[in-house]
Amino acid sequence: MESQSVILAIETSCDETSAAVVIGNGSAILVASNIVSSQVSLHAEWGGVVPNLAAREHVKNIVPVVLQALRIANISSQDIDCIAVTNRPGLIPALLVGTSTAKTLAWLWKKPLLGIHHIEGHIYANCIRKNHVKENTKAFPSNNNASDRIISFPALALIVSGGHTQIVLMRDHSVYEIVGETQDDAAGEAFDKTARLLDLGYPGGPKIALEAEKYQKQLPLTIPQIKFPRPMFSSKDYNFSFSGLKTAVLNVVQKISPENLKLLKPEICHEFQQAVIDVLIHKTAKAILNFQPKTVLLAGGVSANVELRKQLGEKIKNDFPTTSYLTPFLEYSIDNAAMIGAAAYFRWSRINSEDRAKAIESWKTLETSAHERMK
Ligand code: KG4
Ligand code: ZN
Repeated sequence: MESQSVILAIETSCDETSAAVVIGNGSAILVASNIVSSQVSLHAEWGGVVPNLAAREHVKNIVPVVLQALRIANISSQDIDCIAVTNRPGLIPALLVGTSTAKTLAWLWKKPLLGIHHIEGHIYANCIRKNHVKENTKAFPSNNNASDRIISFPALALIVSGGHTQIVLMRDHSVYEIVGETQDDAAGEAFDKTARLLDLGYPGGPKIALEAEKYQKQLPLTIPQIKFPRPMFSSKDYNFSFSGLKTAVLNVVQKISPENLKLLKPEICHEFQQAVIDVLIHKTAKAILNFQPKTVLLAGGVSANVELRKQLGEKIKNDFPTTSYLTPFLEYSIDNAAMIGAAAYFRWSRINSEDRAKAIESWKTLETSAHERMK
């Protein structure tokens, strides 16, 4: 049964402290508030996320962030139907801050509590509509276009984040089958490591995308000198491998002078990005051919990559014109709590009485896990 529910969601799995209030109604998800306190500048100094530093910042920020989310949504604890929190996978010291906060609130306010898989959140970011609820959270706007942002099943999700690269088949809401995944580095991890090699800073994805854009804008376009492999392009499965690409970049970097490196950075970034995109699109297209999904979703932090969004969209439009294609709005691409609330709504609105009773007791039992796979 689908009905309107108000969810308070919390996300602290990595380096963003985030809380959101989302309202689900049928298949539609609106965001009443989505507060994200980013620690990126803090970790940039170390070239990556330092778990204990992240946890310390989460502890500092979590209460103000939750209070702000409630204040902006203009709701009190009575209005909340369910609390949701990312409890897996992620950095354990970071996850514990979010789960402890959520458990405390669930106990205090006597609310059901759902633990959400972080990647499930990224998938459901695709269902969030752009318009935030402005005034009265209890009144769902009537002018919503119900055909918007709906997942039709079977659906296929291409997950590309800092920790995951997977192709996931969904035969229904909250039902996942991983049909392909990376054998080594995740796509985002490859972007981050390559950016470090090129001294571009952290997080690497947006920095590489920016350099690549400089190359695209060069007039006249220089004749490409750099060529990187497309790893596992011809393998018969839906798996990926990105660690070799990083090594290919290292080989180029070691061979050229600092002056030439400076000049060639935009081209290196362009070719690296295109190599990642080519493999992602090739394997996704192969999976579309086999599983015939009605909807294809792009999910995870790397979905913020404009070229990937565009090129995958073009491929689907040309080769699979009857398949619908969803990408999250940019603000919901990278880690945020609204996406956790969206995933929780689809679980909560379909929950059976046994699991509902368990959710009421979840403040006692909910656990965290660093590596658990989505199922
Ligand atoms: O999903 P996310 O925010 O965190 C994890 O769950 O891991 O993803 C972060 C990853 C980082 O590796 C970051 O470099 C990458 O997403 N990323 C991008 C872009 N924006 C963020 N990668 C490529 N292009 C982008 N524009
Ligand atoms: Zn993420």
